[in-house]
Amino acid sequence: MKLAIVGYGRMGQRIEQLAVADGWTIHARINSGTDLAAAAGADVAVEFTNAAAVAANIGALAALRVPVVVGTTGWLGQLAHVEAAVASAGSAMVRSANYSVGAQLFARVVRDAARLLSAHPQYGAWGWEIHHGGKQDAPSGTLLALVDAMRGAGYAHAVDVSSSRAGAHPGTHEIGFDSLDDTITLRHTARSRDGFARGALIAARWVAGRSGVFTFDDVLFGPHAATT
Ligand SMILES: NC(=O)c1ccc[n+]([C@@H]2O[C@H](COP(=O)([O-])OP(=O)(O)OC[C@H]3O[C@@H](n4cnc5c(N)ncnc54)[C@H](OP(=O)(O)O)[C@@H]3O)[C@@H](O)[C@H]2O)c1
Repeated sequence: MKLAIVGYGRMGQRIEQLAVADGWTIHARINSGTDLAAAAGADVAVEFTNAAAVAANIGALAALRVPVVVGTTGWLGQLAHVEAAVASAGSAMVRSANYSVGAQLFARVVRDAARLLSAHPQYGAWGWEIHHGGKQDAPSGTLLALVDAMRGAGYAHAVDVSSSRAGAHPGTHEIGFDSLDDTITLRHTARSRDGFARGALIAARWVAGRSGVFTFDDVLFGPHAATT
């Protein structure tokens, strides 16, 4: 399997190390200034760049018919036209703000908790996350997706959302509920970037040879779910 790495930064380099150990061939390493045509012929690409670059990169990969696993965050305002470009080119894309399998399981726990707590308005709810000081978007895409999942589960009460950016932290997300009598805290803590990198490779193996637009939730829990 030939992998193109678009965005050879913290995530791209860690994905490369784990991919090589897992038997992948690195077909191309692409940063700003590298022609995306270098990705032509790859079985799949991973895209971890930034919100300003991601839409054009996905469009160019779709035109090359290279399926792409998109990890870049902070661009969901452009989702509709990007998905349309991928679909009309007959290419494929998986997207997620968080490729940690544990974080996806955590999202399901949060959804179930929100469904239960929605009938108990004596609890106030919060969402909080912390990431390293270099992370550009805040709140994180993962926290926004968690609050969306709560809304989807019928949680109509206010959720106070906040973010911290400091140091080298790879990412903690917390959802909590507090009443006069007690506090319920749900927390996911990433230990390193390895969980994101491993999940991106699970998605890459899954999407190679497919066409369509998918989320990592489809990869893990859909009708043709990958084994992890
Ligand atoms: N979904 C997840 O699980 C997950 C996990 C961690 C991080 N992320 C997200 O992934 C993104 C990257 O994170 P990171 O920590 O790896 O960032 P990073 O270390 O800053 O790396 C970004 C890389 O993208 C390159 N780049 C910039 N513009 C480009 C372009 N137009 N075409 C190709 N490459 C370009 C940069 O190269 P230059 O030096 O040439 O600019 C840099 O090497 C962020 O949006 C972050 O929030 C997602």
